[in-house]
Amino acid sequence: MKNPRAKHNFVGQTCSITGVGSYVPERVMTNADLEKIVETSDEWITTRTGIKERRIAAANEFTSDLAANAAKRAMEMAGVSAEQIDLIIVATITPDMPFPNTACLVQQKIGAGRAAAFDIEAACSGFIYALEIGQQFIMSRTYQTVLVIGAEKLSSITNWKDRNTCVLFGDGAGAAILQNRENSHGLLTAVMGADGDKANLLSMPGGGSACPATMQSVTDGLHFLRMDGKETFKNAVQAMCSAANEVLSRCDLDVTKIKCVIPHQANRRIIDAVGDRLKATPEQLFVNLHKYGNTSAASVAIALDEAVRSGKIQKGDLILIVAFGAGLTWGAAVIEW
Ligand code: UT7
Repeated sequence: MKNPRAKHNFVGQTCSITGVGSYVPERVMTNADLEKIVETSDEWITTRTGIKERRIAAANEFTSDLAANAAKRAMEMAGVSAEQIDLIIVATITPDMPFPNTACLVQQKIGAGRAAAFDIEAACSGFIYALEIGQQFIMSRTYQTVLVIGAEKLSSITNWKDRNTCVLFGDGAGAAILQNRENSHGLLTAVMGADGDKANLLSMPGGGSACPATMQSVTDGLHFLRMDGKETFKNAVQAMCSAANEVLSRCDLDVTKIKCVIPHQANRRIIDAVGDRLKATPEQLFVNLHKYGNTSAASVAIALDEAVRSGKIQKGDLILIVAFGAGLTWGAAVIEW
């Protein structure tokens, strides 16, 4: 294998992930619970999606709370204090409110008073977008320590009367600490992509400048997430495979060299289709979808944390992360752990 780091990182410098952490709310909502709310069945949800249960945040628990809890765990693993953090990036489609941004609220909750703070919105690809943005600040030496978070309270935009969508999503957060380490392991390369022509496949139409909140917009359900599931499915498989192949090829790697493939956790059938096309074995694919459903920007971040803490990923292992979401957006990255 050629040195996969050589082509893409500045010589001698690496954007290392020195800590990861995740947090999911305590309340578990099972498929049996959903059977009582909408006309569905555990059998349908399990066979069509692979999801068995998801976590639902409490009424007084917001995206910034989930994010702050995940951040504290990542900081602990990295041995980083709140004062050391230079920048906080939160990827979310469910901010606590339109403004101020959720990253500022996280800054206050973790006491990172020195940090600049902003949100990015790339739906389920948000964590990979945020990693790539954070990497740029590290590699340019603008900042020493960047906290990147994917966090969602999707239950706040879920239409609990729509069985097409309400069985799919869950709440949670995942975080990573990025730091510059000389001649060390870290992010080798990342790609981001988008296709605004297909913006209508997955959206929440209400609440922005195009459709501010009115009595009518609420009555019409415009403040709920909506999705064309079938079209989204097709685009997800295609975009994730192509993004994954691009980062592998940039690093002169074939999939056999990857210890762990961490795909966005939206649907087991999507994960398996992507795995098949990439020729990844079931042992390489990391799946925790059955426990959490689709947590959008938090999905890959939670999975990365669980893969690391469970011992599935060891120092020196190569990891492929890949995601797809509304926008449309997609992204992939190769990480040397
Ligand atoms: O995170 C961003 C990316 N998101 C995704 O990638 C999600 C992509 N899409 C999907 O995962 C799948 O398209 C879904 C899981 C959303 C739907 O699966 P599907 O195999 O595409 O089912 P469908 O939408 O074609 O629905 C098949 C049938 C329909 O009934 P009819 O019209 O054939 O009689 C639906 O009404 O299943 C019905 N159905 C349900 N039945 C029981 C849809 N949702 C449910 C449900 N329970 N929850």
